[in-house]
Amino acid sequence: MKSIKETGMAFDLVRPALVEKLGSERIDIAGTGQQDAILTGFKKAMRRLTATVSIITTGEQDQRFGMVATAVSSVSTEPPAVLICVNHSASMFHPLMRAGRFAVNMLTVESNPLVPVFSGKVKGQERFEYGDWTSLNGLPCLKNAQAVLCCAVVDTFTYGSHEIVIGQVKAVEVEDEISPLLWQDGKLAVSHLLNA
Ligand SMILES: Cc1cc2nc3c(=O)[nH]c(=O)nc-3n(C[C@H](O)[C@H](O)[C@H](O)COP(=O)(O)O)c2cc1C
Repeated sequence: MKSIKETGMAFDLVRPALVEKLGSERIDIAGTGQQDAILTGFKKAMRRLTATVSIITTGEQDQRFGMVATAVSSVSTEPPAVLICVNHSASMFHPLMRAGRFAVNMLTVESNPLVPVFSGKVKGQERFEYGDWTSLNGLPCLKNAQAVLCCAVVDTFTYGSHEIVIGQVKAVEVEDEISPLLWQDGKLAVSHLLNA
């Protein structure tokens, strides 16, 4: 079978066909009355998608913005890139779109008190009164983060309530300590090695 590259077929020709296919399957799977069950099941399944907790930050003039996020994923190594998913209703959404850059601060277990602060309990710039913050490439970076990725926004995709934001990594800081703060079943958790 020929790859898309070999046939020279443009991606924008393939995508509508794929969407049409998925669309018709979606109707078959999620018939009337099944949508609620799917949503309930989806939410339950996502609670089992254990993830490292990060604080995404951005900066505009003298202003700093940040929020807790678990929707962070590696996308590519050539070039190094990650994606984040940001709710359109989040206070950092518009500043992030304007600034065109963000930092992913991956939290260690010790930073767990920052989670309520950066997920709504404290508002706006006041959030940065908690934790030890510095600046890297003009972006707010947590001093004792497990790792920090400074990224330039290179692409965005709107899907439902969220914006999928692709960031090309421009600077990295990594601590030797590996002690990720996790989010599992709606609660904070720690990891442990098997057979350690
Ligand atoms: C563990 C955890 C993970 C979260 N992950 C995301 C995420 O990936 N994307 C997102 O937009 N919001 C996420 N949120 C919600 C935001 O942190 C929260 O809405 C935050 O308060 C931003 O909104 P605000 O700045 O308007 O208060 C998460 C919250 C928690 C507690």
